[in-house]
Amino acid sequence: MKRVQDKVILVTGGAMGMGQSHSELLASQGAWVFVADMNIELGQATVESICKNGGKADFLKLDVTKEVDWNAAVSQIIEKAGRIDVLINNAGILILKPVQDTTNDDWDRTFDVNARSVFIGTRAVIPFMQKAGRGNIINVSSIYGLVGAPGASAYEASKGAVRLFTKSCAVDLAPFNIRVNSVHPGVIETQMTRDMLADPAIRPALLGATLLNRPAQPIEVSQAVLFLASDESSFVHGAELVVDGGYTAN
Ligand SMILES: NC(=O)c1ccc[n+]([C@@H]2O[C@H](COP(=O)([O-])OP(=O)(O)OC[C@H]3O[C@@H](n4cnc5c(N)ncnc54)[C@H](O)[C@@H]3O)[C@@H](O)[C@H]2O)c1
Repeated sequence: MKRVQDKVILVTGGAMGMGQSHSELLASQGAWVFVADMNIELGQATVESICKNGGKADFLKLDVTKEVDWNAAVSQIIEKAGRIDVLINNAGILILKPVQDTTNDDWDRTFDVNARSVFIGTRAVIPFMQKAGRGNIINVSSIYGLVGAPGASAYEASKGAVRLFTKSCAVDLAPFNIRVNSVHPGVIETQMTRDMLADPAIRPALLGATLLNRPAQPIEVSQAVLFLASDESSFVHGAELVVDGGYTAN
């Protein structure tokens, strides 16, 4: 039996990086995945690759900062699939600047994409999950939603907001049987970190206290997301699942 057989799952930021990896793994485990992203070309490529491998997927153009896009995307899923079982709020951006150089625009943009999107996306799916009598929301935060690091104050504040918003939702949505959890990846090799990892002057500082002394591949986070998306995690609610090679352990 596949682990998320027939579940209807929306993955934001599914065009590349971890979102692509989550989409591919979930589809390989039987889910119908709606890959949502602003990047149409790469998003469609993710869907094509899933379908070529025998999985089920559709692309949705979704800018997670736009409520109108959310409503259209969720309507399309309901029209096609009749329900939405799992929402994975994965899309995110990183603006690398110390607090003294961070502009109001940097702050607002970061919060729009990383935090406000999670709020408006959650609100868009709630009525359908309530109607179904169950639901599952997975919010991608970061180790930087748990601890600080140099040069990314807006990012860290936005990921901290996602962490606590997840817990608020866990409280508010439990009566509707909607589970809500956050995932906290450590240093993962994607476009977001590639240049920093390739720079010998930055790599050791970025890896920081990662006890396993290496960055992870996206699939290593996808396995944790798969667990949360599946019924194997049926009693996991309001939790923060840290996938960081030990970064925050000491
Ligand atoms: N890479 C890491 O080390 C790391 C660590 C912890 C947490 N994270 C978080 O994991 C998530 C995925 O990160 P990644 O490393 O795969 O990033 P990535 O840059 O490789 O991919 C991000 C995806 O989000 C999409 N996206 C960006 N803005 C969007 C918007 N407004 N609307 C829709 N889609 C949008 C991009 O098009 C892209 O497909 C992010 O939330 C990130 O903050 C990453």
